Amino acid sequence: MSIEQTLSIVKPDGVEKNVIGECFRRFEKGGLKIIATKMIHMDRAKAEGFYAVHKERPFFDSLVQFMTRGPVVVSVLEGENAIAKNREIMGATNPEAAAEGTIRKDFASNIEENTVHGSDGPDTAKFEISYFFETNEIFSR
Ligand code: CMP
Repeated sequence: MSIEQTLSIVKPDGVEKNVIGECFRRFEKGGLKIIATKMIHMDRAKAEGFYAVHKERPFFDSLVQFMTRGPVVVSVLEGENAIAKNREIMGATNPEAAAEGTIRKDFASNIEENTVHGSDGPDTAKFEISYFFETNEIFSR
């Protein structure tokens, strides 16, 4: 077990559905601390850069369109095994496959509009956190 940090995004559909607080509640209830957070509206270049690893995928253009249609809430979560814990709280990418009681099971519309994003590993977490936050905006505790 180790203390990790991970990037969380409440996506445009999550903001539209008014479940920012519900997502935060589940993170905190799961033992994760919100150590940085802000609301931003990504432009196309920012979203394309964030999802650059997916640029050859057929859903890339649609994903960028979706992620730029409204504001999102980006946060840094910290805790024991925070990366895996956050993914457990979120549930599977496709809400049809997500476990009961997960954010995606309860709120996601479909595999694209799936309410939340979470880093999938330590290297990704490091890149994704630095993509949105300066060191002096993160309050590790
Ligand atoms: P996320 O965890 O943010 O990582 C990549 C995103 O691409 C994913 O959540 C979904 O929003 C989207 N995505 C993944 N697979 C598909 C797919 N097959 N069709 C459409 N969107 C997808």
